[in-house]
Amino acid sequence: MGIQFSKSKKIFKLDTLHTTYMIGLTTEGYVGHMYYGTRLQNIGGEYLLRTEEAPFTPSKNKREKSSFLDFFPMEYPTGGIGDYRESCLNVRNEDGCLGCEIHYVTHSIQKGKPSLKGLPASFGSDEDVMTLDITCIDNILQLKVILSYSVFEKQDIITRSIQVINQGKENLKLEKVYSSCLDLDNQNFEMITLHGSWARERHIQRGKIRYGKQMVSSARGESGHQEHPFIALVTPETTQDYGEVYGMHFVYSGNFIAQAELTQFDSVRMVMGIHQEEFCWNLTPKSSFQAPEVVLVYSNEGLGKMTRSLHDFYREHMIRSPYKHKKRPILINNWEATYFDFNTEKLLAIAKEAKKAGIEMLVMDDGWFGKRNSDNSSLGDWFVNEEKITSGLKSLVEQVNEIGLEFGIWFEPEMISPDSNLYKSHPEWAIQIPGREATQSREQYVLDLSNPVVVNYTYESVAKILRSAPISYVKWDMNRQLSDLGSAYLNKDSKQELFHRYVLGVYQLQEMLIHEFPYLLLENCSGGGARFDPGMLYYSPQIWCSDDTDAIERLKIQEGTALIYPLSTIGAHVSDCPNHSVGRITPFETRGHVALAGTFGYELDITKISEKERAMISKQVDMYHKYHELIREGDYYRIASWSENQHYDCWEVVSKDKKEALVTFVQVLGIPNSHSRKIKLKALNPHSYYQLEETGEIFSGELLVSAGFLIKGMWGDYQSKLYHFIEVDKFS
Ligand code: DGJ
Repeated sequence: MGIQFSKSKKIFKLDTLHTTYMIGLTTEGYVGHMYYGTRLQNIGGEYLLRTEEAPFTPSKNKREKSSFLDFFPMEYPTGGIGDYRESCLNVRNEDGCLGCEIHYVTHSIQKGKPSLKGLPASFGSDEDVMTLDITCIDNILQLKVILSYSVFEKQDIITRSIQVINQGKENLKLEKVYSSCLDLDNQNFEMITLHGSWARERHIQRGKIRYGKQMVSSARGESGHQEHPFIALVTPETTQDYGEVYGMHFVYSGNFIAQAELTQFDSVRMVMGIHQEEFCWNLTPKSSFQAPEVVLVYSNEGLGKMTRSLHDFYREHMIRSPYKHKKRPILINNWEATYFDFNTEKLLAIAKEAKKAGIEMLVMDDGWFGKRNSDNSSLGDWFVNEEKITSGLKSLVEQVNEIGLEFGIWFEPEMISPDSNLYKSHPEWAIQIPGREATQSREQYVLDLSNPVVVNYTYESVAKILRSAPISYVKWDMNRQLSDLGSAYLNKDSKQELFHRYVLGVYQLQEMLIHEFPYLLLENCSGGGARFDPGMLYYSPQIWCSDDTDAIERLKIQEGTALIYPLSTIGAHVSDCPNHSVGRITPFETRGHVALAGTFGYELDITKISEKERAMISKQVDMYHKYHELIREGDYYRIASWSENQHYDCWEVVSKDKKEALVTFVQVLGIPNSHSRKIKLKALNPHSYYQLEETGEIFSGELLVSAGFLIKGMWGDYQSKLYHFIEVDKFS
């Protein structure tokens, strides 16, 4: 089980419960990809490397070395030597030449998984995970490359990462260091990615791959609204329940590339790593570079199985927060309620009403510091604006606590406004190119987090506030992407390290924060959901999913997000109508049902909504208390997608023991002259009976799964219903 090596066959076999990954070594020491797919019993299948077919390996046919390199399924292809497909590692020597070729030297297999210095990464005990390190070398450059594979057996996940070590005497430049490669034979693959924009994050996109390279990427300094560090190749027949899926997901919050390349020989090279644009790392003698981790997932039971593998994996092996298996407080955030126009009185009035409705935390959003009354000033001046928070922060927090609510606060620590005290005293701390007017975005610049002094200053500014009052929650925002890549700190030879060093600075800040405040509930955010990635989950158990809180827009956003992230991580709130992003009016109930498939909370002025809606909040609070555990810990099944059928959306969460299931049905558009709609439930025990709590009706599990359940009585657009099925002893 776990990881085996056959010395005679020169094959590594990595097994999870349902999958096998095999790596083979050629006589020359090339490390080849043999197989990734359904679990195999035995180790073997050397022929899969095709080294007995012409053009043969270089030791048998040196004349055609390039033909070999351009065809052989490489575990980690290097650039400049004749593999013309996308390379993963490009190294330039002191002479200015690009070329690197690596061969196997040794390997080690160990229980557990070492952490990756300075980077977020999955973790597990010796019982949960095993790690294989394959050490390769380029003898000319004296460059050691370690290919690491960690096998999480129960979740059917394999993670990969790369470490490059300069053992020679030359200064080397790493111009590209990707983290993962998968050379597969094409199976008429289609590619699934998640694309979006501000307020439209992570919509699912699927299309057939063509010859050549197709990719999604970010060179914005963060993972971004627009494209997502995830890629899946699926067979054409793949649905939620059937077909093959090969997925890669990047544990990184900066620039990335996720690419599939269909080659002349009908193989597909799938790669993932840090984008090479404006990336170049100086690898001085004796230094090393650690590339971030990629999560690999294979399913032969459709997308649904991939989803559940990733959900289980992130819940158990990526999120560290003590909140990961705990109920999150129901919060009310004042952003859509007041925007910048608030003061102590308004906040206390919201807190009082919120308490009456059963809400558990007040979050004070943007605008409490410096002289910030709109988004054009004060970032960096993290001291309380006592014109607004008249009694001071400590007193406000204490008053909110006395009302019976916890208190949370918003920061945007990575930024600096040109109109701020901080910029006046430290203009050189902003990322800018001297002599060129820096591009503003939301009237702000980004702090140079490659500079340790800036990191420490920023940390202290945030920590000082958190030390000053009993604050339970932080929303960590980031509202612009990077441009004008100049740094007063980095010298001219290391400017191209800025993007990556910036991300390392963000990680360092958040690591310091959770170290000093281990019980703080941290929610990451980036202009909505622009930095929703597995890297951020290592620091915060939940991430604000989108600034678009419209229940109908959220269906697509949350469907795409839940394809790869557990519901417990998805920041979702009920907001006011007409919705601030689209002007749509949806029933309060539907807004609640959609937000329930996330962390749940409110984003409205509770003092201004109708009595009827306030009463509905109390009911929704009860609903959350009833279902939070099921939603946080259960298995998620996608039943229908309105972006596919244009009419309705449906998902189900089933408890691990299959004793209860919650089905959410949203009728996006009503259809005239229609009958009840039959939906087939998933994953219930066919031999059990289930009672529908709302009506008392009892159904057999097999009937609900095979024949289906009738959704009746839906009238109108944007309507929704919850159906709660509970296992009962026997049919009565
Ligand atoms: C963007 C966030 O996504 C919003 O929720 C809000 O916090 C604003 N920033 C505040 O500027």
